[in-house]
Amino acid sequence: MGATTLRVCIVGFWSWGSAIAKIIGTNVKNQQKFASTVKMWVSEEAVNGRKLTDIINHYHENVKYLPGHKLPENVVAVANLSEAVQDADLLVFTTPHQFIHKICNEITGRVPKKALGIIHMESIDEGPRGLMLISDIIREKIGMDVSVLMGANTAREVAAGEFCETTIGSKVIQNGILFKELLQTSNFCITVVDDADAVELCGALKHIVAMGTNFCNGLHCGNNSKAAVLRLGLVEMITFTRIFCKSQVSTTTFLESCGFANPITICYRGSDCKEAKTFPRIGKTMGNLQKEVLNGQTLQGLKTSALVYQFLKQKGLLAKFPLFVTVYRICYEGRPSTEILTCLQNHPAHM
Ligand SMILES: *[C@@H]1O[C@H](CO)[C@@H](O)[C@H](O)[C@H]1NC(C)=O
Ligand SMILES: *[C@@H]1O[C@H](CO)[C@@H](O)[C@H](O)[C@H]1NC(C)=O
Repeated sequence: MGATTLRVCIVGFWSWGSAIAKIIGTNVKNQQKFASTVKMWVSEEAVNGRKLTDIINHYHENVKYLPGHKLPENVVAVANLSEAVQDADLLVFTTPHQFIHKICNEITGRVPKKALGIIHMESIDEGPRGLMLISDIIREKIGMDVSVLMGANTAREVAAGEFCETTIGSKVIQNGILFKELLQTSNFCITVVDDADAVELCGALKHIVAMGTNFCNGLHCGNNSKAAVLRLGLVEMITFTRIFCKSQVSTTTFLESCGFANPITICYRGSDCKEAKTFPRIGKTMGNLQKEVLNGQTLQGLKTSALVYQFLKQKGLLAKFPLFVTVYRICYEGRPSTEILTCLQNHPAHM
C-alpha cells in the first residue's frame, strides 16, 4: 500500500465500537500511516429529540451506547453505511451478529477492492452447510481478507483505558500486524497469531462455558466448582476448535487472551451472566426468559449452544463434549440446572 495514508471505518456504533473508536481515534493521530479522520457508521436514531449522529459529532459522546466517555474529535459519525465504507482501506466490524448479513449485502460492491477487514464479533452463524464463521460470511460476500480481534476485553473497561490483553488472528500475518499498529496502546496489548479461525471460535464458544459457570452461580455453588467448569469448558473449546478447523491448532493460541482469559472475564459480567444466573432459580424455560428478561434479544450463549450441539450431533461427537451438551440440555430440553454438577462429577476427564 506504499506511502498512502490508510482510511479507517468502524462498522458498528454500539458500546464496543465506541470503545475501540476511542483507541483508533487517538492512535491514528500519532501515526502518519493512517488518515487522521476515522469514520464510524452510526445507524440513525433519535435520542432526546436529536439525531444520534449529530450528538456524536457535536458533543463527541455516544450518549446512547457508551455514555460518559468522550470520543476523540476526529471520529466522525456517518449515518449512511455505503458512504461510510466507500473510501475505507481498513474496516473494523463490531456489530451484533444478527446484522451482519444485512450489512454485507448493503456494502458489497461499495467497499474498495484492496480494503482489509477485522471483526470483533463473538458469535457463529448458520450457513447452508451448517455452522459458519462470521468472518467467512464477510470473506464470501465482500471478498476481502478478514482478521479477528478477540480477547478478555469488556467494552466498559476498554473504554476506561484499563489494562487488557487481546489477540488478533490473521490468515495473512502482515494484515494482523497492520491492525496491531492501528489498535495497540500501552493498556491494550495485542498478540498476533495465524490461527484466525481458532481465535474466532474461542470468542463464540466461551459463551457456552459462561452459561455453565452461571448455572453454578444460580445454584450458589462454590468458586472451586466454577473453576472446574471453566477448565473443562476450555478443554472442550480446544477439542471443538481442532475438530472444526481440521488442523492441529497450536496450544499457545489457546493460552492467548482469546482462549484462556476470555471465558474468565465473561463469566464475571454481562448479559449471559445475569440471565443465566436467574434461570435456575426462577425455573423458567430459556424461551420465556428471553422474552421476559431480555425483551426478545437473543442470548449469545443460547444460539451458540444450539449451533454447536447440532454440529456435534451430526458428526456423532456428543459424547466427547459433556459440558457443552449439558448446557444445551438445560437450556433447551428442560433439564434441571443441577445437571451441570452431575456433569462435572461424571466428566470423562475424571474417569
Ligand atoms: C448513501 O450513500 C450512497 C453512496 O454515496 C448513495 O448512493 C445513497 O443514495 C445514500 N443513501 C441515502 C439514503 O442517502
Ligand atoms: C468466591 O470467592 C469470593 C472472593 O473470595 C467470595 O467473596 C465468595 O464468597 C466465594 N464464593 C463462594 C460461593 O464461596
